Amino acid sequence: IKTIGVLTSGGDAPGMNPAIRAVVRTALAKGLKVKGILKGYNGLISDEIIDMDRHSVSDIIQRGGTILYTARSMEFMTQEGQEKAADTCRRHGIDGIVVIGGDGSFRGAQKLAAQGINTIGLPGTIDLDIACTDYTIGFDTAVNTAMEAIDKVRDTSTSHERCSIIEVMGRNAGYIALWCGIANGAEDILLPERYNNDEQELINHIIEGRKKGKKHHLIINAEGIGHSTGMARRIEAATGIETRATILGYMQRGGSPTCKDRVYASVMGAKAVDLLCEGKSNRVVAYKNGQFVDYDIDEALAMTKDIDDYEFMVSLMISK
Ligand code: F6P
Repeated sequence: IKTIGVLTSGGDAPGMNPAIRAVVRTALAKGLKVKGILKGYNGLISDEIIDMDRHSVSDIIQRGGTILYTARSMEFMTQEGQEKAADTCRRHGIDGIVVIGGDGSFRGAQKLAAQGINTIGLPGTIDLDIACTDYTIGFDTAVNTAMEAIDKVRDTSTSHERCSIIEVMGRNAGYIALWCGIANGAEDILLPERYNNDEQELINHIIEGRKKGKKHHLIINAEGIGHSTGMARRIEAATGIETRATILGYMQRGGSPTCKDRVYASVMGAKAVDLLCEGKSNRVVAYKNGQFVDYDIDEALAMTKDIDDYEFMVSLMISK
């Protein structure tokens, strides 16, 4: 391996910059050249490649987002797109690529490996929804950002004795909702994996709480269920309790990464370069049972993960 490329793909996540920094600095320390690929796989198709030296990654460890930009590339899904991308790699002498992103990005890395380019994936998503790993870059920052915002909504909710529905990100997975629900002491958490659409049950719970003297009722709703505004309107009509919806949205994807996200992303970035130098390809770095490990991408993508794996945490909420 002489030249390593690095790209970020899919939804951005705080910690991607520390991961990029670690890839660049580790590779340079091993005497390799580094190229940054802009805008995810699109940059490989449209040839948007930059040379990176140690100063390219100065002053970024504390910054949210990704200095390489990101995209969800439609063109790369096609065979033609993948061939173009591999040609670009060859033209630039890139013989190994580190891809930072979620499951979709790993599928892209798999395709690139099939075109003869060595690839290593790093799990980067705020959603924590990658089966092979207990940690994903960005989740810790996202839940801390959401937790702080929810604390603020809670203050005003109590003052007005209201019910508040707070919608957090997670189109397909309820991990952010579950963590925040526990951290914020919510009365209810609605997880896409579990929600049975029984609004009456929710309404009964709110009325019960009010009878017990509760001053507010916090419901954390995951984006995958959505419809928070309509839900608030119906709850208010049924209970007579003022109800407001707050959708936290993209603020959860931005911001300075937490210590954990900086450190884990740095370790993973360095490990990705080590793997490429050992001649490995088509692998992903993961954090499993307290260890940084790596898996074959095909094996990693075949793994499944369910919120029920966190049964004890879920049961904490159900029993409230
Ligand atoms: O990156 C994960 C995520 O933030 C999900 O929680 C969310 O559903 C999705 O990305 C939103 O994606 P987009 O940026 O395409 O709107």
